[in-house]
Amino acid sequence: MKVLIVGDIVGRSGLDRLKKELSNRRNDYDFCIVNGENSASGRGIRTKEYNEILEAGADIITMGNHMYYRKEMASEYAKLKRLVIPANITNLVGNKHVIITKNNIKFGVINILGTFGMGEMVEKNLVSPFKVIDDEVEELKKNNVDYIFIDFHAEATAEKIIMGHYLKDRVNCVYGTHTHVQTADERIFDTGMAYITDVGMTGPKDSVIGLKLEVALERYTTEKYVHYECSKNEAIFNAIEVEFDDNTKKAISIRRINE
Ligand SMILES: [Fe+2]
Ligand SMILES: [Fe+2]
Repeated sequence: MKVLIVGDIVGRSGLDRLKKELSNRRNDYDFCIVNGENSASGRGIRTKEYNEILEAGADIITMGNHMYYRKEMASEYAKLKRLVIPANITNLVGNKHVIITKNNIKFGVINILGTFGMGEMVEKNLVSPFKVIDDEVEELKKNNVDYIFIDFHAEATAEKIIMGHYLKDRVNCVYGTHTHVQTADERIFDTGMAYITDVGMTGPKDSVIGLKLEVALERYTTEKYVHYECSKNEAIFNAIEVEFDDNTKKAISIRRINE
């Protein structure tokens, strides 16, 4: 069983690159998870991008802190059946996990937010990921899912590594998103769980994690607030490919894609 997991889609160029890549490779995989938290011009997701990502070939879309910037979407998330919102957010309504069955294989996906560097607005509406993850995993186990994937959307590398160790006996893959920079620490734990600290982003290459370079330069060199502007530059494609043994459900390989 082979899975493709794509890192944060940033803006129009990221979406276009996703479509191109999935039209070429989607048939190579049994299941595909995409993080769409920056697909609407870098800030959150709308129903339009949700539909585009699913039509491109994703099975499940995960989220992150940027969903807070789309206030008009707050009443919509719960209607989007294949969207997973962070399980430890206390003030937004949506799916805290999603289960889907494809070709007689039952997949469960959980999204969870880290507690560092998420901004005041987000942090005040969060509980510790370690306080909610047990219940979410337990819920999926009760539903007899074959594979459990965790998108841990977090800034701090240590927090993500700890989550990997915490869950290594209970789930099939823990992967990080949010930093938009792919890490080179992919591994398979002795329990057969695949892990990487960050998948990276599918978004504008010559940018500052998606932010237009000129805007970033002004913001950081003058220390003045400059309004966010998503870069329109050509996008890189960041993803991981994970293969599992069909009988044991243990990971056989994890491979980074950075093209
Ligand atoms: Fe992101
Ligand atoms: Fe994020």
